[in-house]
Amino acid sequence: MSTSTSPFKKAAVLGWPVSHSLSPRLHTYWLHQYGLEGSYEALAVEPRGLSEALRKLQAQGYNGVNITVPHKEEALRYIKEAGGIVDPLAARVGAVNTVLFHEKAVMEGRNTDVYGFKQNLLNGGFQITDKPAMVLGAGGAARAVIVALQDMGARHIKLANRTLEKAQFLAHEFSTPQGKVDVVPWEKASSLASDICLLVNTTSLGMKDIKAPAYFDFSYLPKEAIVTDIVYTPLLTVLLNEAKIRGNRIVDGLGMLLYQGQPAFKAFFGYDPDVTAGLRQHMLEGLKA
Ligand code: ATR
Repeated sequence: MSTSTSPFKKAAVLGWPVSHSLSPRLHTYWLHQYGLEGSYEALAVEPRGLSEALRKLQAQGYNGVNITVPHKEEALRYIKEAGGIVDPLAARVGAVNTVLFHEKAVMEGRNTDVYGFKQNLLNGGFQITDKPAMVLGAGGAARAVIVALQDMGARHIKLANRTLEKAQFLAHEFSTPQGKVDVVPWEKASSLASDICLLVNTTSLGMKDIKAPAYFDFSYLPKEAIVTDIVYTPLLTVLLNEAKIRGNRIVDGLGMLLYQGQPAFKAFFGYDPDVTAGLRQHMLEGLKA
């Protein structure tokens, strides 16, 4: 697959900023666990420097890279422009989080966030019902979440975002006859949640260092609805904490990070890794550090 014939395989995560990324901790754990020869590092790449960085790393014999904020959409655009391969799922989401370097300088863009989100929910005991799911936020992360929910069979997604136009844009892009996406006003999201089976936060609200006011009124939410947050710093976000107090089942965001890494690791290092309790514990220690 890669141009490199060396048994030592190299991969990295590219972002800006990237020093807080937990992906090196995740992949390095697996490399050690399975006794594989390889490395995985975090590389800071400025917003305008992505295409150059990709070309350079490919020339240096890297097997592939993960892409994080703010480069996921740009990675898709560049790979298309360069005549590379774009996985249909990545094209549908509109974002690439995994780039593989093939022979003859060909790059392939994939999206493993969809798998990560899906697998984390399934692992948390969530099963889609014919009730709607509600997604908060309409940024890059919401795109992968909407695609994942539709792939799981969601027939109806209620989408709420502070900036209404962004939600309208996504609803227009992703709505299908099998899985409609309806915009609900941000201020009314809580009161329109009385019939949902799942609440997903994809906004940056509740992230470390961001003072999060209680932005969701749980009094309308059915007790059997599952609540999940893609934010995992802190692990128990404001939303998850309140959901827990209310007695709703919660699925934290750390699992999405672990599961999105699974297919990426397989592609980079040729081994299908497991998500285990030991790995989760190792990552939790990284979160505390
Ligand atoms: P990501 O790629 O992680 O989704 P993003 O594209 O910057 O990041 O999107 C961030 C999301 O968090 C957006 O939905 C944003 O809402 P706006 O579209 O209105 O900006 C949401 N968000 C960020 N800060 C927020 C706040 N204080 N209140 C409500 N929503 C917020």
